[in-house]
Amino acid sequence: MTTSLTAAILVADDDDISARYLKRILTREGHHVSVMTTADDVLEACAANPPDLVLIDLVAPQGQGFEVCRRLKEQAATRLIPVVIVTSQSDRRERLAGIDAGCDDFISKPFDSTELQARIRSLVKLKRYTDDLESAEAIILGLGATIEARDPTTRGHCQRLSHYATTLGRSIGLDQADLDALDRGGFLHDIGKIAVPDRVLLKDGSLDAQESRVMREHPVVGDALCAGLRSLVRVRPIVRHHHERLDGTGYPDGLRNTQVPLLAQIVAIVDVFDALTTERPYRTALPKPDAVGILMDEATKGWRDRALVDEFAALI
Ligand SMILES: [Fe+2]
Repeated sequence: MTTSLTAAILVADDDDISARYLKRILTREGHHVSVMTTADDVLEACAANPPDLVLIDLVAPQGQGFEVCRRLKEQAATRLIPVVIVTSQSDRRERLAGIDAGCDDFISKPFDSTELQARIRSLVKLKRYTDDLESAEAIILGLGATIEARDPTTRGHCQRLSHYATTLGRSIGLDQADLDALDRGGFLHDIGKIAVPDRVLLKDGSLDAQESRVMREHPVVGDALCAGLRSLVRVRPIVRHHHERLDGTGYPDGLRNTQVPLLAQIVAIVDVFDALTTERPYRTALPKPDAVGILMDEATKGWRDRALVDEFAALI
């Protein structure tokens, strides 16, 4: 973890005098400052090498200050960079427009250099926390990949699951937040298998009662692993409930019908489909129509939602 509050700051300003002044104050504090004068340069630089903070002059660059802020806040890769809008006015409407564009703070001209430094220090501190959260999330996603690496027969399973799940989600009109959860859920649904020993996970043959019990704990273990991360709040129901069945015979909670979260139902369907259509040590891959037939049978038995299975069948 970085404890230093020395930051990489991007100043977006096409006024040479104010840009130089800002650069001088901030450099004196030990920050690394780069100055950009056009909106395109700012967006490009932030995407290529995200700074710790962006300072945008309200009227610059080229009067596109709000637009630059809005676009930074729209992109997942740059969303968490604090943006401070520099303004010479205390115009309420313009402040509201800045808030609307997603800016994190304002600083007024003429600069009070002590105030400027204090605000920047507090925003950089906040950015360090989000950086740490981001790396925690990257670690969890990396753990998801290790599950797949341990079991060579499931290679590519996570990517395919994310793809199938988001395709099905999109076709039934889910919003972007749900699609993002499905994408991550594809990678993380089996993360709890990290607690399943190799002799059980890789066993060539059916599991005995004790081994089944260990295996069936993976949704609860996975849910607990994801519990500390707020950014995974929509993914957790997928991790916990992807082995539930609508008739209540699934696990870990024996949920029924609409109690089973929709995103978990989607991942469950595509998980079964992918398992059936890829080769395993104990059987060859089934043709796609046969796998769809098995899902249809599961819908008839009351395990799956018929409409969801039909929708998926139509996509396949
Ligand atoms: Fe699973």
